Amino acid sequence: MIVGGESLRPLRPAPEGDALWVIDQRALPHRLHWQRLATPAAVCTAIREMWVRGAPLIGAVAAYGLALQMRADPSDAALSRSAAVLRQARPTAINLAWALDRMQARLRGEAPGRRAARAWAEAAAIAEDDVATNAAIGRHGLPLLQALAARRPGPVQVLTHCNAGWLATVDWGTATSPLYQAQAAGLPVHVWVDETRPRNQGASLTAWELGQAGVPHTLIADNAGGHLMQRGQVDLVIVGCDRVSARGDVCNKIGTYLKALAAHDNGVPFYVAMPLSTLDAGLHDGLAGIPIEERSGRELTHITGRHADGSVVEVQLAPEGTPAANPAFDVTPARLVSGLITERGIVAATEDALRGLGRLP
Ligand code: MRU
Repeated sequence: MIVGGESLRPLRPAPEGDALWVIDQRALPHRLHWQRLATPAAVCTAIREMWVRGAPLIGAVAAYGLALQMRADPSDAALSRSAAVLRQARPTAINLAWALDRMQARLRGEAPGRRAARAWAEAAAIAEDDVATNAAIGRHGLPLLQALAARRPGPVQVLTHCNAGWLATVDWGTATSPLYQAQAAGLPVHVWVDETRPRNQGASLTAWELGQAGVPHTLIADNAGGHLMQRGQVDLVIVGCDRVSARGDVCNKIGTYLKALAAHDNGVPFYVAMPLSTLDAGLHDGLAGIPIEERSGRELTHITGRHADGSVVEVQLAPEGTPAANPAFDVTPARLVSGLITERGIVAATEDALRGLGRLP
């Protein structure tokens, strides 16, 4: 994406092949800060501590982590050990395992002496594939917006949750890709941005992204979406996903399920932008089988923001010692999903439709 006249992606491989630069998303929206990751351990920390986040991005970054490992030690043992460690960095988004499996499949057949160069090239291919995938998701999603625009005057009102934008991918974003393509096509859209408690990816990241791109948007409290839908102020919901089961259940950032329920109750179409790398073909029932990340309660009891003097500070919200539970993802049953916007087109959230894409056994 173009930000301030500069073409930006959230990751930038060093030309020397010895490090990966990433945008540290913890600093946004107050500061655009880059981190240099030069070891697999640093990559693991960046994923686990959410310097980088979003399902496709953590897959691509992990691939570079394995490439850095191959530079240091290209042995079979190091390949297996490093892939296992990276895989554990975050449990829910399957793109992490998908990217590491792709890397390992490519590297196993290669002599150790050739693995470093091959790994770097494969990580770059994963990143470029993600860009093409997301551009295709945008192209397939755009007609949904065009159809809604044809129904009445004014901008199409889209609600999104969390950040499934370019910051969460290598470029374009998934849920945001149709929006950016609508903008490029001159189709007016307005986006309701869920703040997405507790980490506020909507308030900090999606609002920043859309603002930089000049896409009209309004930040709302997570609890406001249902009310806006009842008042006819939402035409369409588009969210991203972290793992989709074979029958079309969608795991995404906590709170997505409640938006799907409200959309269903109000007859608002609820679409999920889904790269096929997010499909867990071996899992049928998403409600039972997806590991849901439990994060620190401190994300609820405390909040970080910018002070008037420019300093970024953390303050406490809840009484000292309050117990807090923080499940980071939820699962929206397939029956609440109007369709999956994939790089191969829009399909129903059903096993048959996903099988039709050739992605199920
Ligand atoms: O915990 P996060 O910020 O990594 O969660 C991200 C999301 O839930 C995104 O919506 C999802 O990964 C899709 S990103 C294109």
